[in-house]
Amino acid sequence: MLLPAASSDRDLAKSVAAERESLAAALDRHRALLFRGFDVASEQDLELAVEAFGWDLYQFQIGSTTRTRLTNRIYNANEASPEYPIHFHHELSLREEAPSKLFFFCKEPSPVAGETAIVPSDVVVEKMEERLPAVMKKLAEVGLIHFSKTGKDADANTGVVFNKTWKSFLGTDDKVEALKRAREILSCNSINFLDDGSAEVVYGPLKPVVERGGKRAWFVPILGHTDDRAMVSNVFGDGSAPLPPAVLDAYADILAENCVDIKWHRGDVLLLDNAVVQHARRPGKPPRHLLVSGCGTLPIPATGWLNHSSRPKQEVL
Ligand SMILES: [Fe+2]
Repeated sequence: MLLPAASSDRDLAKSVAAERESLAAALDRHRALLFRGFDVASEQDLELAVEAFGWDLYQFQIGSTTRTRLTNRIYNANEASPEYPIHFHHELSLREEAPSKLFFFCKEPSPVAGETAIVPSDVVVEKMEERLPAVMKKLAEVGLIHFSKTGKDADANTGVVFNKTWKSFLGTDDKVEALKRAREILSCNSINFLDDGSAEVVYGPLKPVVERGGKRAWFVPILGHTDDRAMVSNVFGDGSAPLPPAVLDAYADILAENCVDIKWHRGDVLLLDNAVVQHARRPGKPPRHLLVSGCGTLPIPATGWLNHSSRPKQEVL
């Protein structure tokens, strides 16, 4: 955690500009930095602080969750009602391009709970290898096929996390056009359209563990964004079987044992290395309000495709 010097005027943008290199080195070492006690109150203040780091803007694209752009660099974090949890993930880990750095800013804390939890993803990999060596060996060989669910008709524009249907966020009700757009925007292989108006977006085979610059991370989510495991599902990349419940249980235990919950103070700014840190949202209460900003891009493709050239981009199934 970084606090303003006693003699400073608590201007975060000014402090960052003066210490830019040492802060980047500290982020590389610690993976996450929390700035507390600085005079940051608005999206404009945050924009200046983010700009002071000197990193390229990461522009968030559309998806199945709601996130309003407020300024050039600053967005509302997920606008789902704060009582819904969001499970651990690397930001936009299934997209071709994912941000390399992520800022969260606490505009209003939750009166109870509502923490953002973080976990070192390399530790998740290590512990999974210790507990499930045979499964990890198989995943390294065949990867996994990942299915992400979009919102269904009944959830459209409600407060749930996935509150957009494929028709609304892809801007068409034509399935052929939707598939073409989804491949472009979501970097997926295909889509299964379901009767309740939702869709399964299909990815893979993907290697769940991605290595960059000597750091490993578990980059493909294998638990849902809610407690409902049906929201996200995975099967071994050879199609032989779904990931067994014991694997999901071990993964959940490892996350719980190795995470840190950030209890928000108004004005906090949290900077994460999205290449090596996963984050999650604990259930809270209104008026919890977080903002988000992304910078840089991880090497493309962000996700570990077993055979990236096999991913169809234009042609239709
Ligand atoms: Fe996120």
